[in-house]
Amino acid sequence: MQALRASIMHCLADPGEEADAATWEYFDDGLLVIDGGHIVHAGDAAALLAGLPADMPVRDLGGKLIVPGFIDCHVHFPQLDIIGSYGAQLLDWLNQYAFPGEAKFADPDHAREVARAFVDEMLANGTTTALVFGTVHAHSADAVFEAAEAKGMRLMAGKVLMDTNCPPELRDDADTGYTDSKALIERWHGKGRLGYAITPRFALTSSSAQLAAAGRLASEYPDVWVHTHLAENMDEVEEIARLFPDSRSYLDVYEQHGLLRERAVFAHCLHMDAQDRKSMATAGGAAAFCPTSNLFLGSGLFDLSSMREAGIRCGLGTDVGGGTSLSLLRTASEAYKVLHLQEHALPAARALYLATLGAAEALYLDDKIGNFAPGKEADFVVLDYEGTTLTKRRIAAASTIEEKLFALITLADDRNIAATYVNGEQI
Ligand code: GUN
Ligand code: ZN
Repeated sequence: MQALRASIMHCLADPGEEADAATWEYFDDGLLVIDGGHIVHAGDAAALLAGLPADMPVRDLGGKLIVPGFIDCHVHFPQLDIIGSYGAQLLDWLNQYAFPGEAKFADPDHAREVARAFVDEMLANGTTTALVFGTVHAHSADAVFEAAEAKGMRLMAGKVLMDTNCPPELRDDADTGYTDSKALIERWHGKGRLGYAITPRFALTSSSAQLAAAGRLASEYPDVWVHTHLAENMDEVEEIARLFPDSRSYLDVYEQHGLLRERAVFAHCLHMDAQDRKSMATAGGAAAFCPTSNLFLGSGLFDLSSMREAGIRCGLGTDVGGGTSLSLLRTASEAYKVLHLQEHALPAARALYLATLGAAEALYLDDKIGNFAPGKEADFVVLDYEGTTLTKRRIAAASTIEEKLFALITLADDRNIAATYVNGEQI
């Protein structure tokens, strides 16, 4: 057993737009007690120390803030090197930047090198769990699983399924996509902290036969994830309506192919109607809110309040390389602005929820991660208010934890991540 002494904040439920104080806990002088890789307790230092063995090592982190490890619900590791590519909306951006970048992953050495850099970047930003797209190449999934395994990080990933409307060198087909994915499930799913995600890119680049094969796989392996894109861009939505005239909506395409179920995570979900929201909530699917991407690609504004009112599980996603940062603090700051534009609020406590417990609920991992409930895995981040000269000044002028956390969300970057702990170990 060991303990860390610092300020501690975590969520117990969704704080909502009113930042309901009963849904989160804050200990100004807190103690996080861990035993190996698991949480024993989080609470007030003075009260807890009295009941703990006198010889237990206690690490004093001074005026820092411990929060649960951040969870990225949607990101593309192969797009690390095309982040910040100029000028195009989704469909042009895919053709100009994403597909040529992903074609380089035919080389397994390239895939391994980028995967290692990607995992290091995520950890440097305090992200301890992620749901990750590979490329169409099966070895891209191997590469990112190996890189995460080396750090003990919790990660779900999959090889991308895409057999139409894309460059020939990036195509699989319904049969090989199915058999390659199945082999990857057998190799990686449930190995340590790793899990497999069946990953049809989106309904535009998968034939109906491929979507059906993916749906078959999803029913054969109910505890693997399904990970895809949904209703991101208006041109995309119109093209889907043309390609699938028998479907009521874009979401209905996935539903008809057996891809809407628990553990199915849909990135973006910008252009949905009430019926879609009801279907997604009833089926237990989840939405990844990717604000930096939605702004950067000019896609639109995520309607968090309608999604949550419908009962849909929601977490934040960085969506790098359409997104512009691997930091969930930077992502939360853009989420605030996206909601502000729609005359909604995003208090700091709810932003923290979307980056931790809400994301864990979206991924059906809230029995393992997302907050400091006893027995959960000891994944956490030590935030340094003084990581930059500007955050130091701004925090000195703040009084409440809500104010301090909001200032960090607005201003912080990886310099404010003092340490990232994975399974109780500082990485
Ligand atoms: N839709 C299909 N593929 C992609 C992708 O790589 N990035 C984003 N943002 N949307 C997509
Ligand atoms: Zn994406």
